[in-house]
Parts: sequence; structure tokens; C-alpha cells
Amino acid sequence: MIIGVPKEIKNNENRVGVTPAGVIELIRNGHSVYVQATAGEGSGFSDEKYTKAGATILPTIEEVYATAEMIIKVKEPIASEYNLIKEDQLLFTYFHFASYEPLTHAMIERKAVCLAYETVERPDRSLPLLVPMSEVAGRMSIQEGAKYLEKPLKGRGILLGGVPGVRPAKVLVLGGGVVGTNAAKMAAGLGADVTILDTNLARLRYLDDIMPANVNTMMSNEYTIRELIPSHDLIIGAVLIPGAKAPNLITRDMLKDMKPGTVLVDVAVDQGGCIETCKPTTHEDPTFIIDDVVHYCVANMPGAVPYTSTQALTNATLPYAIQLANKGWKQACADSNELKLGLNVVNGKVVYKGVAEAFNLEYTPVDSIL
Ligand SMILES: NC(=O)c1ccc[n+]([C@@H]2O[C@H](COP(=O)([O-])OP(=O)(O)OC[C@H]3O[C@@H](n4cnc5c(N)ncnc54)[C@H](O)[C@@H]3O)[C@@H](O)[C@H]2O)c1
Repeated sequence: MIIGVPKEIKNNENRVGVTPAGVIELIRNGHSVYVQATAGEGSGFSDEKYTKAGATILPTIEEVYATAEMIIKVKEPIASEYNLIKEDQLLFTYFHFASYEPLTHAMIERKAVCLAYETVERPDRSLPLLVPMSEVAGRMSIQEGAKYLEKPLKGRGILLGGVPGVRPAKVLVLGGGVVGTNAAKMAAGLGADVTILDTNLARLRYLDDIMPANVNTMMSNEYTIRELIPSHDLIIGAVLIPGAKAPNLITRDMLKDMKPGTVLVDVAVDQGGCIETCKPTTHEDPTFIIDDVVHYCVANMPGAVPYTSTQALTNATLPYAIQLANKGWKQACADSNELKLGLNVVNGKVVYKGVAEAFNLEYTPVDSIL
């Protein structure tokens, strides 16, 4: 199959859909790969590295779309790319259709085959192509939190790990899923005193077994949250209720109970946030202050560490990309339920129920097109 890797053109997106290591694997499987010039630059991969791996560099995005049968990228196509997409072209990328109606209509119109990273789903209901970004954001939340706890950045001026003779900072993690577990691990590694809250008792049992001694677990409820926030220095929001807006676990009135310079990092901001006073911010201007409490609410945290994020993402996407290239999308989806669940819009039909429902569009069951 002929595979194309365009350069991401969404604002501040430095990741790339395939690494040179991925190019080698795709070529080993008998495919050819065309990469747009400088596509990998933001992630540390020069054109030369892609050429050495066996890819052909194309100067423009138009040539990449015109040449390829399958496009592998990171973010959803933006308006300027819509007209480059061909009928029957397979697009393997994040789409998040339900959050943007014009994109859905554009993909229906172009009659492309849209396989969305975010809905590829394992039998245990986990989302293997979302997990890597949660791992990055979870780990990064502590790095950012530690930074904003510094006095010049308006934090309390406390070092996460303390020093001999001085107590460490206290970190509260709301939600013990992928983000929360990675956050807790990093905070614990730096020597902080960490508490994870979750509503899932089985998950708390698991975390209690695997976490080091400086991590405690507690059942999440309003009483406990109110009791804990006055003594904590850094609070991480990492809650997810699939398909719903995150619940406001920290309400506006709770800010007055926090110490001045407390830092809140609401990683769940992309799902509406679990801290009432959080609103999405950007890497250019990541924080704002309300009642002397620092709020960090960047909606695309992994974008700041493209070198790590690109590799984390492509480690997870490449095995699926190889199946799609080897078998063609139809056979690959017929053979793999995980991939089949990734199909959202196919040749003008909406085959993912959630997307059809979001915009009141006709729904075509995916099995009827395979
Ligand atoms: N900002 C970013 O850049 C970024 C990046 C990646 C992920 N995210 C977001 O981070 C959030 C968490 O993702 P995840 O992968 O860890 O999800 P996950 O499903 O692995 O974990 C969510 C956890 O929240 C727990 N939970 C639900 N209700 C709760 C409550 N009331 N109190 C405490 N815990 C509760 C669940 O039991 C679960 O363990 C999501 O909204 C995701 O979209 C944001």
C-alpha cells in the first residue's frame, strides 16, 4: 500500500504520525511511505532520517494526499486539508468527530474512510490509542505542578520532595486511572506525600498493592475532598466518566479553604474539567489565578513534549497501521473488532453511533458495509 505522512498544520502541533522506525517496519511489510518535507522536525526526526529509513520525501502536502492510499497523521484534518482528501482514501488519525460538526460533514462529502484513533477499543473496553497520551499528560502534570509551586511562578514556594529536616509537599490526585496513576508515580518518585482518590474500590485496592509507601488511597466523596484540600499543595484533576462531562469535584467555594499558592492541574479539562474554576488554557499562557490559587488547565498537554508524545503514540498506532496496510481496511476491520470500532465515517456513511447521534445524522451499522 502507498502510505502518506503529511506534516501537521494544526496550531502548535509538533507531533508526526509515523517515525523513521515506523517507516522501516512498514517498508519491511512491503509498503511504500511518502513523508512531507519537515513533517518530523518538531519531534526530532529530520528528512534525512526518514530517507535513510527508506521513505520518499515529498515537498508539499498536496503531493502527499494525491499520492497516498492511506494517510497516517495525528490530529484531525483542518479545513485547508478537506479538499485534498480523495474518495476511498483511508485516514488513520485522531478525529474526535462528535466535538466538531463541520469536520463530520466534510468527511462525509469527501467519501473517505475515516478510522479514528480515539474509538479503537479493546475487548476490556480500554482505548489503546488514547492511553499513551494519558500516560504523557499524567507524568507531565507533576512536572508542571512542581514548576508552578515555585514562588516566582506564584506558587507556595515548596519543593515537592522537601529536604532532610523539612517535610515534603502534599499531592492530591483525583481519579486513579491512567492519568492519575502516572501522576502519583511521578510525585511519589520525587518524594512527595501522595493521596489518590477514586470511586472504584477495586481500583483503589490495586493501587494500594502496587504503589510505594508514600502513596495512600482514599474513597472519593465530597466529605473527604473538603477534608483534604486545606492541607494539600498540589491537586491533580484526573477524573473521567466515559461519554460524560467530568464531575466538578472541586467547587468554587472550596478555593477559600486552600492555602495561598496551592496549584491545581486539571488534566481532565478536555472533558470539561473536574475543577469548577478551570477553563482551557494553552501552552503559551498555561495558568491563571483565582483567590491566590494557581490553575493550570492546558487541554493538549502532550503537545509540549512532542519527542516523547510522538514515540508514545506511534508505538501504539503502528501495529494497527501495519494490519490496515497489509490487509486493506475492509479485511483488517473484518478480522479485528478493535479496528472495526475505529471506523467512524466510511464512503459518505456515518458508521459510529455516537457521531450520528451527536449531529442527528443517518446511522449505518458498520457490519453492513464490511
Ligand atoms: N489535558 C490533556 O492534555 C489530557 C491528555 C490526556 C488525557 N486527558 C484527560 O484526562 C482525563 C483522565 O483520563 P484517564 O485516561 O486517566 O481516564 P481513566 O478512565 O483511565 O481514569 C479515570 C478515573 O476516574 C475515576 N473516577 C470517576 N469518577 C470519579 C470521582 N467522582 N472521583 C474520583 N475518581 C473518579 C474512574 O474510576 C477512573 O479510575 C480524561 O478526561 C482525559 O480525556 C487530558
